[in-house]
Amino acid sequence: MDGMKRIERALSAAVEQSLEAALSHADGPTCPPLLASAIRYAVFPGGARIRPRLCLAAACACGEDDTSVADHAAAAIELLHCASLVHDDLPCFDDAPTRRGKPSVHSAYGERIAVLAGDALIVLAFQTLARGGANAPYRLVPLLSIIGRGVGVPSGIVAGQAWECESDVNLREYQQAKTGSLFASATMAGAAAAGADPGPWRALGDCMGEAFQVADDILDAASDATKIGKPVGRDVALGRPSAVRELGLHGAIRRLNLLVAEAIDSVPVCSGADGLRAVIAMEASRLIPRELADSVL
Ligand code: IPE
Ligand code: IPE
Ligand code: MG
Ligand code: MG
Repeated sequence: MDGMKRIERALSAAVEQSLEAALSHADGPTCPPLLASAIRYAVFPGGARIRPRLCLAAACACGEDDTSVADHAAAAIELLHCASLVHDDLPCFDDAPTRRGKPSVHSAYGERIAVLAGDALIVLAFQTLARGGANAPYRLVPLLSIIGRGVGVPSGIVAGQAWECESDVNLREYQQAKTGSLFASATMAGAAAAGADPGPWRALGDCMGEAFQVADDILDAASDATKIGKPVGRDVALGRPSAVRELGLHGAIRRLNLLVAEAIDSVPVCSGADGLRAVIAMEASRLIPRELADSVL
């Protein structure tokens, strides 16, 4: 196995382990069984897990050997992402019957349990963060603010989803809030968990997040539901602002390629910068199928 694959496996294994540990605090005997089951269903098996891997990769690139705080921050970020997907699929948002190749949470458990499972995951994320910061409370303060900013108002996921209720929407602002903000939280939280200054890590997360959402728009327009495990063609059907609708398919692919190059250039000066650039390039190469990426060359 080459070095990159080994690093990736290690990051992925660490993420699954931290999520298991986080959920072990939710499944207690007092939890209503349907809710406990829906929470687990929303988290396992996972999807890309790109945000928590990015968080851990940033912490390692900052030279942190003890990843305990970063592990909890990464799990918190993925729990928030899972919550956002549960709510995003609800009939009052995207009305998506499938997610990650199986019925979405409300399709499997009903809307009431899905709303509550999303709520519980949001709270569990902050409880997980608190647990991780118990031995390093001075790192907890910046982490709370970095992660809160990625999901709340004025410009986190909640704000991003709310732009869909407005008539005048700026595509970049919308995508930055609904997707970029949590990616920025991931890179900045990785740095903060390692005791580094998180400020210089924002640009990398912003670029990766925007690239990721442009890729999601491309897949929505040019992939099929069995390949991506969720419905396609939703952006046009729901009248959502999307990079493909604004720039055309080839324009969106060109934009994606530019954003990936920008992300690689944004890796801050740190002891593990070269390794991190390689991780970013590998993550980016998986965003859309190669034939599509190459179709604009
Ligand atoms: C989907 O994110 C929602 C977006 C913000 C584009 P992911 O594609 O990361 O979802 P999973 O976790 O892999 O299912
Ligand atoms: C979801 O965006 C963004 C969230 C914050 C949940 P989309 O609605 O475009 O993502 P998919 O295509 O359903 O995964
Ligand atoms: Mg949506
Ligand atoms: Mg959706």
